Amino acid sequence: MGQDVLDYFLSSLGALFRMRRIYPPGTKQVLQSARQASQKLAEWGQPVRMTFLGNDTIVENRRIETIPMSFRALFQSLQQLGFESVQIEADTGGDDLMAWIETVVSKECIPYRGSKIAAGSLKLERRAEPRSVLTRAVTGYLGFLAEAQEVLSDLESRKSEGLVRAREVVCAIVARLAVGRELFQPIREMKNFDDYTFTHALNVCVLSSALARALRLSEEMVNAIAMAALCHDLGKKEVPREILNHNGPLEPNEWLLMERHPSCGARLLLDIPGVESANPLLPVVAYQHHMGANQSGYPKVQGRLPQHTLHFASLLVAVADVYDALRTVRPYRRALTVAQAATILIRDALSGKLHKEYVSSFLLLLNVLAAGRRVVLSDGSCGMIVETHTGYPLCPMIGDEQGRIRDLSDPSAPTIWEVKEDSTGDLQ
Ligand SMILES: [Fe+2]
Ligand SMILES: [Fe+2]
Repeated sequence: MGQDVLDYFLSSLGALFRMRRIYPPGTKQVLQSARQASQKLAEWGQPVRMTFLGNDTIVENRRIETIPMSFRALFQSLQQLGFESVQIEADTGGDDLMAWIETVVSKECIPYRGSKIAAGSLKLERRAEPRSVLTRAVTGYLGFLAEAQEVLSDLESRKSEGLVRAREVVCAIVARLAVGRELFQPIREMKNFDDYTFTHALNVCVLSSALARALRLSEEMVNAIAMAALCHDLGKKEVPREILNHNGPLEPNEWLLMERHPSCGARLLLDIPGVESANPLLPVVAYQHHMGANQSGYPKVQGRLPQHTLHFASLLVAVADVYDALRTVRPYRRALTVAQAATILIRDALSGKLHKEYVSSFLLLLNVLAAGRRVVLSDGSCGMIVETHTGYPLCPMIGDEQGRIRDLSDPSAPTIWEVKEDSTGDLQ
């Protein structure tokens, strides 16, 4: 069904709101507008989800830049009343729409729970323990961390509402990424944060959605991957905290516990009612994200799976996962620079651990494989990228120290082995 049918519904909902502000409840004009809105909704034939987060207004997966006059007054009232999320079922009748609009006109407190309409705040009660200064800084910086934390806490305790809220947060993130780089940029630069697992989940979500979008996947797939990325490490809940924050290499028995987090995560997600129908990728990515493109990782599957059995979304999320883990400070090591992390991604791609094309696209996105970058090649020589081949960014044209141009897409040519730090400081 076309987007304009949804716009007609929103306009008729806006008209109902305007009519009800002019005329008393139950008058002919109000009843007629309610009937019209319910008819438009039936034509649309699907539930309508609206999200209001900060300055963002998202209807379904679409960020609305300029709210049309026909429903601007309604949306402004919803925002002023503190509504962050509104879900209207496809079969909502005129009476239900009127009942809800009545509460908006009379400025009643949120949340609203009707049989067909649920509207309220995205936030659950705040946790008792105070957030650290760093977490507050990140919350202010990214805006989405608080929502992501609450969504993940919900899912950790197997609440199905978490799924709906996760979808909303992810849609808001993806919609924002579509507009600019304002979310991607801070993630690219950020390295030292606490509340590691939460922040990491959000980073991997943003990075994976940016990569999925760069790979020109459909909007629906970008959202599904973003949500799976947000939930990829939920199984870490089952790993003792001392092991997660262990200062130094893990003992073999500790590794065994750590290696259980993908299967714990998949099981935890499958236990949440409605997960498979909402997004079947969630348990798949949670289970496979450490398996590796060449299946050298974990969990080990007896007799190995055929290559194509690993879902591409798991391979895509794995690239963002490895990168973010390297860029974040951990109790046992400093955060790596972009150049150091990029070097590791390239070596993992060459060894087959990470998916080569996804690493290439990711490094292009990070602007690492751009003209002017200095690199060390696998034969020990140094050079500078002079041109990147479209489609083969890992094999660019290199100008070497003798002034020769070497084409790394030639099968006999060496490969990039190290990305050098940039003197301009943007690869710090
Ligand atoms: Fe993990
Ligand atoms: Fe992870």
